[in-house]
Amino acid sequence: MKVTLSVIKADVGGYVGHSSTHPALMDAASQVLEEAKTSGLLIDYAVLRVGDDINFVMTHTRGVDNEEIHKLAWDAFLKATEKARELKLYGAGQDLLSDTFSGNVKGMGPGVAEMEFVERPSEPIVIFMADKTSPSAWNLPLYEMFANPQNTAGLVIDPSMHEGFRFIVLDVKTGEEYAVDCPEEMYDLLALISGIERYTIKAVYRRKDGEIGAVASTQKLSLIAGKYVGKDDPVLIVRAQSGFPAVGEILEPFARPFFVEGWMRGSHMGPLMPVPFHHANPSRFDGPPRVIAAGFQLANGKLIGPRDMFDDPAFDYAREEANHLANVMRRHGIFEPHRLPEESMEYTNLPKILKRLRHKKGLEEGEYVIEHNPEEEHD
Ligand code: 13P
Ligand code: 13P
Ligand code: MG
Ligand code: MG
Repeated sequence: MKVTLSVIKADVGGYVGHSSTHPALMDAASQVLEEAKTSGLLIDYAVLRVGDDINFVMTHTRGVDNEEIHKLAWDAFLKATEKARELKLYGAGQDLLSDTFSGNVKGMGPGVAEMEFVERPSEPIVIFMADKTSPSAWNLPLYEMFANPQNTAGLVIDPSMHEGFRFIVLDVKTGEEYAVDCPEEMYDLLALISGIERYTIKAVYRRKDGEIGAVASTQKLSLIAGKYVGKDDPVLIVRAQSGFPAVGEILEPFARPFFVEGWMRGSHMGPLMPVPFHHANPSRFDGPPRVIAAGFQLANGKLIGPRDMFDDPAFDYAREEANHLANVMRRHGIFEPHRLPEESMEYTNLPKILKRLRHKKGLEEGEYVIEHNPEEEHD
């Protein structure tokens, strides 16, 4: 059976500030999706959240980029926005960039990751959702899952994975895309994706048969390429087992916390902390950035789950380490490398400050010195 899995997310209002999502927004959105399930448009759905981002996980048979499915998500976000406005939540409607739906939510604010495939006899899926970061946060873990045999033993010992994977990489600046085949072109892949400000992995395919293995949300970045458009809290779908990495190989990269862009005002580096659903409320300095992992088994398109995959004491050490790394970064305060370089910041006051300081440049040398009268000091 051919099934489409669509994950569409948006921030339509934070509770409190940017830290979390009010349950009333989840209820409002769920009602809209429930109606679509009753009418038969959706096979199944789940509404999840990480920080202030609501994520719709939907299964159907309409294929990717389907107008009706995108309109449905848009309508559900509008319903949640109404509630957010009523409760005066922070940044109500923040990610809905337009007043009217125009056929596809891509470029309208929400993030989208979709894939269509023939459901296998058993179809385990892990959906990662992150807050206070950007899509390039998936570069390192996707490399680990699908190209690094030190992380994914299956690349070496499972014959069905031995031919490796093709990575599709987006250049955020130009909008250009590259196909990179691993293991042969692993160094080429790393040359690109180690630059997290510019290159983002969009999708991963199995080379043996072209089956899709992973897809990330990057639309906002690609459509407005060439111009800095800010961070877009990302989602990632990964298929597991039987020719793809095992569930444990997919989760493993998050056991070693690494730095990502985002955090406070989208303008800081911080460790990505893997948390269970109920701890996905970034509060300290609006962070540190969080990632949750929702596991599902598909059964004829039905979503059996979610299982809260980071709800495991084996990730306690990663959380502790992330807290330690957060302290190290916070020690820098406003200084780089905690604060991002100028061109990657979501907020900046620097042009205004420079303009004001330039007025003083008209001064003659020596006039910089602030005059003071030593005698006055004795008065
Ligand atoms: P099973 O032999 O239980 O299917 O496990 C295989 C596997 O992928 C474990 O990581
Ligand atoms: P979000 O992108 O999650 O809304 O966070 C914005 C922000 O400014 C956090 O400090
Ligand atoms: Mg927000
Ligand atoms: Mg957010």
